[in-house]
Amino acid sequence: MQNLQGKTIVFFGATGGIGESVCAEFCKAGANLVLVARNQDKLSKLKEKLGEENSSTISADASSILDVQKVFAQSFQKFGGVDAVVISVGTWKQTSINNSAAEIVAASDELETSIARPVIVVGSVAQEFLRKQGRGVIFNISSHAADRFLPGNLAYASAKAKVSRFIFNLGEELKGTGVTTCDIRPALVDTPDNRKGSPHLSEEQWSTTVQPTDIAEFIAESIENQNIPSVKFFESGVVL
Ligand SMILES: NC(=O)c1ccc[n+]([C@@H]2O[C@H](COP(=O)([O-])OP(=O)(O)OC[C@H]3O[C@@H](n4cnc5c(N)ncnc54)[C@H](OP(=O)(O)O)[C@@H]3O)[C@@H](O)[C@H]2O)c1
Repeated sequence: MQNLQGKTIVFFGATGGIGESVCAEFCKAGANLVLVARNQDKLSKLKEKLGEENSSTISADASSILDVQKVFAQSFQKFGGVDAVVISVGTWKQTSINNSAAEIVAASDELETSIARPVIVVGSVAQEFLRKQGRGVIFNISSHAADRFLPGNLAYASAKAKVSRFIFNLGEELKGTGVTTCDIRPALVDTPDNRKGSPHLSEEQWSTTVQPTDIAEFIAESIENQNIPSVKFFESGVVL
């Protein structure tokens, strides 16, 4: 993977299935890492696992403007600048016409809070800090569901479509500032939780799913790319 010595990456959702694996790759490549999530115990365990001197952990709620401002203020103070921000928070919830209208609306409200608000808060605060230094990339881990019909995704797809559109429009607004955005839209990712949820899948099938290492490699290569794509899909051979 691309050498990331001297590059600083602020990662929201660092202790997640995608976050842990991607951060491990960034660490191996020598990046300065700011690991962010709400649960401090999990953050401390991750830092210990990564064994990385150039990393720090910050417990923060990505849906709080004040918390996120604190994350960037501390990151700039410690590392002098930020090269990339990765937003990888949120969760999946199944909703289809088999649910009642009340359940569909409740799930949409829940995902508005857990998916949409954190991306809008982090994106809005990050661009203020990055514009001052005149550079930096904001990556959002969205989903292919933002763009495609997948059964059971009534609430999830609409939350993801909203944030994908937000990140795209933010990128357009930022043209000429040196700051860019990229909406990453993976299909099924090979994570411990997904493996637990689908024990019937074979190793061969898992090898066709999206590998977190591929996402890490794309981000690493894109940090210096002046022509970074505004949208990047990662396909899987298995669709659940
Ligand atoms: N896994 C897949 O197959 C897949 C496919 C496509 C897209 N995605 C998307 O990729 C993203 C990450 O997925 P994942 O599988 O890694 O999820 P995950 O394992 O559930 O991890 C979520 C991470 O976000 C953190 N988090 C959640 N809410 C937060 C908040 N308000 N403030 C700060 N941190 C918060 C969690 O830690 P705390 O709870 O401690 O805060 C955890 O570190 C999600 O947006 C998901 O929709 C996943």
